[in-house]
Amino acid sequence: MTQRLSLAGFTAEYVMDIEELDEQHRTFFTLLAKLATSVPDMYRPLDDEEADAVIDVLNELRDYAMLHFRTEEGYMQEIGYPGLEKQKREHNRFITDVIRMEGELLNGTVMPAIKLHNFMHDWYRDHILTLDKPFGQTYNKIKV
Ligand SMILES: [Fe+2]
Ligand SMILES: [Fe+2]
Repeated sequence: MTQRLSLAGFTAEYVMDIEELDEQHRTFFTLLAKLATSVPDMYRPLDDEEADAVIDVLNELRDYAMLHFRTEEGYMQEIGYPGLEKQKREHNRFITDVIRMEGELLNGTVMPAIKLHNFMHDWYRDHILTLDKPFGQTYNKIKV
């Protein structure tokens, strides 16, 4: 499992060659690492105090994701990117899912932090590789 966590950061394969967006993706993964340090054990179900600490990190991650999505959608609007609506749907779904998980924690649903960590990590990885990178290619073809 240690190995799984060491793989969780930003990697070169995520680079889409739009500097501001790459930087935001990198920052998201840096913030995500805070989830691991906010609790003594990522794999143990959270107690109430730990759940509060995790909710604080989730709020920060959600705020940052919203800032990033707005920025990214702005780049898409700039070139009239046809994939914009699909991106918006996926971005909104991510925010909705994070809000739902925050609600579950607030309502006392018992879960380990790793579940939240892996959901966000895997969503970002898959989203960058399958949707953001193709946009980066299109954007750079038009802008170069
Ligand atoms: Fe995106
Ligand atoms: Fe993105």
